[in-house]
Amino acid sequence: MEHTFAMIKPDAFENADEICKIIEGADFKIAEKESLTLTPAKAKSFYGEHKDRAFFSGLIEFITSGTIVAMVLEKENAVVDWRSLLGPTNSKQAEEEAPDSIRARYGTDVQKNAAHGSDSPSAAEREIKFFFPEFDLTETHRTSQGEE
Ligand code: TYD
Ligand code: MG
Repeated sequence: MEHTFAMIKPDAFENADEICKIIEGADFKIAEKESLTLTPAKAKSFYGEHKDRAFFSGLIEFITSGTIVAMVLEKENAVVDWRSLLGPTNSKQAEEEAPDSIRARYGTDVQKNAAHGSDSPSAAEREIKFFFPEFDLTETHRTSQGEE
């Protein structure tokens, strides 16, 4: 069973319950879930790969502007399937290309795009450890279909 890291961003926090229902309806198990507000230092570390990009300071300001929901999702092909449910990075593009996606439905533009998803299994491992250092990636948390 594969795991990925998901984060509901401040712009979509008010829709977090609805988004979690969509996630579970798409057959992901939410293995961990925690609401928190990122400090600038933690946000800069999480998004470190983008530190030289022009959008970095805006991204850090936005992601620290309110509560986020950090989650570990479990499913076969969790990484690819969560990116697919998320939709394209830019919510405006998502509205055109993937109107049912989470970024189309709950985001606004390329910065306020509702949610995050790890882009590879190695990123998933790093990001899960970043938020949930105790999480056991080798364990399957789903007992049977539809049950906790
Ligand atoms: P990126 O890793 O390219 O996108 P994704 O989240 O789809 O993996 O960028 C990380 C985040 O940075 C993205 O979700 C929103 C923000 N961002 C901007 O604010 N402006 C931009 O031009 C880009 C490309 C990203
Ligand atoms: Mg990315």
